[in-house]
Amino acid sequence: MISPNSCPFHRLKNRIFFSIYVPSVSMAARLPMLEFLQILLVQEPFNAEATRRDLAASYITPVDFFLKRNHGPIPIVHDINSYYVTISGMIDRPRKLSLDDIKKLPKYNVTATLQCAGNRRTEMSKTRKVRGVGWDVCALGNATWGGAKLSDVLRLIGLPYHTEISPSGGKHVEFTSVDQCPEEKGGPYKASIPLGHATNPAADVLVAYEMNGEVLKRDHGYPLRVVVPGVIGARSVKWLDRIDIIEEECQGFFMQKDYKMFPPSVDWDNIEWSARTPQMDYPVQSAICSLEDTNVIVPGEVNVTGYALSGGGRGIERVELSTNGGKSWFGAIRYQKDGVPYIAGDITSDKWAWVLFKAVVDVKGDTEIVVKAVDSSANVQPESVESIWNLRGILNTCWHRVRLSTMHNLRSFL
Ligand code: MTE
Repeated sequence: MISPNSCPFHRLKNRIFFSIYVPSVSMAARLPMLEFLQILLVQEPFNAEATRRDLAASYITPVDFFLKRNHGPIPIVHDINSYYVTISGMIDRPRKLSLDDIKKLPKYNVTATLQCAGNRRTEMSKTRKVRGVGWDVCALGNATWGGAKLSDVLRLIGLPYHTEISPSGGKHVEFTSVDQCPEEKGGPYKASIPLGHATNPAADVLVAYEMNGEVLKRDHGYPLRVVVPGVIGARSVKWLDRIDIIEEECQGFFMQKDYKMFPPSVDWDNIEWSARTPQMDYPVQSAICSLEDTNVIVPGEVNVTGYALSGGGRGIERVELSTNGGKSWFGAIRYQKDGVPYIAGDITSDKWAWVLFKAVVDVKGDTEIVVKAVDSSANVQPESVESIWNLRGILNTCWHRVRLSTMHNLRSFL
């Protein structure tokens, strides 16, 4: 294992970071790999997010700027020829599928945003302390994932499209990894989705082997990961080892003792985990990325850019900004692909992907800029964090606010 202090890049603050890979489940150490321009939040396991400006600079997030969220060490596959995924559980004929078997199925490219449920947790913690990695507003990324549809993989074991219950009573599909997570007492990360979701080809759930046209990187699940569009990132299991058809939803830690949304009244003394269902879809969200929480600016026109997204394939109907605390609002321009106007729900739009927005705000004095988005089901972000505060700090989707202080005399110095 390489210790943090042995690497010179450790001394560069906040802009250039490296990832330390601890020995993997196969117990083979890996040379440290440089990870550029991400903010390292936790080194072991490796958790990093991009800076705000880097994240919102492009519709498709380059792999270097894409969220890296790990609960355990990152595994290594030494010999891809001996790698396979076991498909088993409540089915008659279990199968082992190699990477080539998966690649023989029709390939789909799906552009989808993966957002960690803990995105914007740091902001929630300012109201009342929450537990978890302190993410700013960049715990997400938008990639084009290439792979087979899970619905096609499941057809190989005799489960037709749109199956909600298998002949032997299976109702959920569980994905198991090979990593070793402390929360699972050294066992692998796992999660499940309902069988009806998994066998619906229109849900675009992928067993992915490519990210942005390239072979999936180890950080993001090489050789195979699940991508569940429109659902919190926690269900998109990396380094896939098994797919099991099971009767009840997965009983793993990350389904039962984490990633559940509790009301503000629940604290660590009175929490009853079984009272809530595992979080799946994410709610409507937006954040400003061209500005930090506090900024000093020259008075004049300020470019405001950022992202908005919603779960479940819902489009973004409006992104609105306010400079008077929400008394009045004006619309921002929404866009995805160059030269294609964004229309929520239209066939030309990527339904699982975020929408970027831009606006120009004329700032004359000290100002707070607020953003909120409205999705195609008319869901809107809540005004304050207090109403959605929860002890694990997940799904912070309140209006995003940035403060601007003007330096009136700055022009004369320039
Ligand atoms: N899969 C495994 N095997 N181990 C993990 O720690 N983290 C999950 C999910 N899949 C995780 C995992 C979480 S919480 C998120 S948000 C996404 O992976 C992040 O995927 P990324 O690191 O490729 O951005």
